[in-house]
Amino acid sequence: MTRPIHLSAATARTSAPSISSLIKLALERPQIVSLAAGFVDQQSLPVETTALAAAQILGDAPAGRAALQYGTTIGDEALRAILIERLEVQHGVPPGSYRRAVDRTILTTGSAQLIYLVGEALLDPGDVVIVEAPTYFVFLGPLETRGARAIRTPIDGQGLRIDALEATFERLRAEGSLDKVKLVYTIPEHSNPTGISLAAERRKPLVDLVRRWSDEAGHRIYLLEDSAYHGLSYDSKEADSLWSLDSEGETVILARTFSKTYSPGMKLGYGVLPGGLVDPVLTLKGNHDFGTSNFIQKLIRLVLANGEYDRQVERLKGVYARKRDVFLEALERHFEPIRDRVSWTRPHGGLYVWMTLPESVDTGFDGPLFRRCLEQDVIYVPGEFAFAPEPSAPPRNHLRLTYGVPDEAALAEGARRLAEAVRETLDSPEGPA
Ligand SMILES: Cc1ncc(COP(=O)(O)O)c(C=O)c1O
Repeated sequence: MTRPIHLSAATARTSAPSISSLIKLALERPQIVSLAAGFVDQQSLPVETTALAAAQILGDAPAGRAALQYGTTIGDEALRAILIERLEVQHGVPPGSYRRAVDRTILTTGSAQLIYLVGEALLDPGDVVIVEAPTYFVFLGPLETRGARAIRTPIDGQGLRIDALEATFERLRAEGSLDKVKLVYTIPEHSNPTGISLAAERRKPLVDLVRRWSDEAGHRIYLLEDSAYHGLSYDSKEADSLWSLDSEGETVILARTFSKTYSPGMKLGYGVLPGGLVDPVLTLKGNHDFGTSNFIQKLIRLVLANGEYDRQVERLKGVYARKRDVFLEALERHFEPIRDRVSWTRPHGGLYVWMTLPESVDTGFDGPLFRRCLEQDVIYVPGEFAFAPEPSAPPRNHLRLTYGVPDEAALAEGARRLAEAVRETLDSPEGPA
């Protein structure tokens, strides 16, 4: 006899990840050009470097045995120290300036685990998280699981708009929800999904604004800085992290990862946390896995120390800059006839281009554009997934495109097919909707 399954409320309110069907589609139909998958360039993955590093670790029996043993929940201390030293170099501060942050640095299973744990540590049902519009759609999943309200705040070509965030806080205060606001989530480097970076001059005001609203609210509101694409800047200088501008170290949570700059298969990320969050997050992480792969941490420590990591990042920057140029040039060429009705971002780094069509075009899975794209063997991520549900119904006329995976020829062909599908949709006699 079949019995009903009583799932937890948290599981029951969690929807399936929005793009799992796209990944399946791309695997089933190899002729498809996927401008959707957020994977990295396959041919550049650092096989030789990693093989050498693994051989070096395992070639020394005691070191090998240590690497193959469990580690600590917080992660390898020497690696955490290296990460903090690199933050000092990056921000041009004297060695030792950030030394105290080593104890607040946690190695995690991808930055996905870090941002998940932050949500788990902070959020109860009904709590509020302010996210950019659009935002990294994967983070909306854990927020849904927690029963938190994700509320959008607008961005422009310079990233999150400070005036609009102020207005969002004002509105939340007016509706009596300020006591529920726990977190502001931002992706300040070459954002997923837009490729836009937060302007240098907005960074300190953003940290100050969140700190000021913490004072207004009477409890700590954190600013989660997800810089998953940090390091992948092709023709712009990276601005200082928000974390470095948080003089008291109590507001900003910095999340970073080796997935995009080295290997997503290693799934190693880290966070530098304000003091008050370290123990709660570590306790939860202990319940998840009591520590991220020790072997992978030793391996990344070695490639950081021997310079191979930095050489890999330099190589990758060249590869992605070329891919971006090929893709943007192909978009320019193929969209030329409909240029007045279509716009897109021109990223200085990262992996994404965000395209905007007339509001009447529905880019969703059930809309006419996606259907035409499937006929043309090209796929993208419908932009609607990247918008939190509040304060109003999300716009449906955007596309997230990535140049990370296809090779240069496929990118050019993908742009051609996409332009064809968009043109047909715009010109269709039944109208674009
Ligand atoms: C903005 C952003 N944050 C976090 C992640 C998670 O990456 P990982 O868990 O592999 O570090 C990604 C991956 O695509 C991302 O785009």
